[in-house]
Amino acid sequence: MRTIEWRSGVVVTIDQTALPLKEEWIELRRCEEVASAIREMRIRGAPLIGVAAAYGIALTAYHSKAETKEDLLRELERSAEVLRGTRPTAVNLFWAIDRLLERARAVSGGVEDLRRAIISEAERIADEDVETNRRIGLHGAPLLSDGDTVLTHCNAGSLATVDYGTALAVIRAAWEEGKRISVVADETRPKLQGARLTAYELMRDGIPVTLITDGMAGYVMSRGLVDKVIVGADRVVMDGVVNKIGTYSVAVLAREHGIPFYVAAPTSTFDLSKKSEDVIIEQRSPEEVTHVGPVRIAPEGVEVMNPAFDITPIEYIDAIICEKGVINRGDFQRFVQESV
Ligand code: MRU
Repeated sequence: MRTIEWRSGVVVTIDQTALPLKEEWIELRRCEEVASAIREMRIRGAPLIGVAAAYGIALTAYHSKAETKEDLLRELERSAEVLRGTRPTAVNLFWAIDRLLERARAVSGGVEDLRRAIISEAERIADEDVETNRRIGLHGAPLLSDGDTVLTHCNAGSLATVDYGTALAVIRAAWEEGKRISVVADETRPKLQGARLTAYELMRDGIPVTLITDGMAGYVMSRGLVDKVIVGADRVVMDGVVNKIGTYSVAVLAREHGIPFYVAAPTSTFDLSKKSEDVIIEQRSPEEVTHVGPVRIAPEGVEVMNPAFDITPIEYIDAIICEKGVINRGDFQRFVQESV
């Protein structure tokens, strides 16, 4: 299922806040509309946020009335600033924006050349995402055995990417190879990406999935009901992996129960010159915690914390699966040194 598309100056994408009750497609015509959709999490998931940002800049290029290359470049830079302010944690957003601006600055010729170059670079980023995810799937599938039950957290599926997913790419590829895999999906409080999105897309594909609340993960592991854990990432830094809040708890539980813990992420999610302490963890509104949907579940005035992501130290991660292959824990520091 392709989550986002460019149709001649219009970005068409599925509204993830409406799922699973409604499959609603929205049309975005301005970069500011893309920025709002990212902020409101109609568009979410690290790779998809990056692609959407690229398309947001492409919308500015497409609709601009600028008559010179320099004027258009300034408009693109302004759009880039708006997009940078949407969500701070997933690095793919900044990666895609930087890639587009770099491409823009390298264009020789006139304003029309710049316009065309930006639109095709955005489309290239989107197409590469699908290819990258397929490779992640192929590299990761051998880690799964016939009959495995795999626990995942949040949604690192088609809906978090252009198509095929990252953590779910590994599961999909193993499934397509004929392995009988079943999935345990954490509901992922407070935004419920596991319940709303992962359960939805796996059921659509006919892959068996059982939904649990986040607090049940330890119980199901202790009962021998989980063979492997695979999650996605929002940023891979030199000493850890930043991912949806709750991932760290799952990793610690997996270690306690001797269950392999894998991260699947494209290299566009890698930010290996940074350490955990450099990462800005997005803090979201208290209402996401005090309410479920529109219904209040906590007393008025209670103090609330709502960090959207946590950081799992690299020691808890058995391997990181990317489009280049599988990086085992023991090889990670060498990989970091070679990459920076
Ligand atoms: O807040 P979200 O829904 O954008 O967070 C998404 C996640 O944490 C995913 O696990 C991550 O982006 C990987 S998606 C392939």
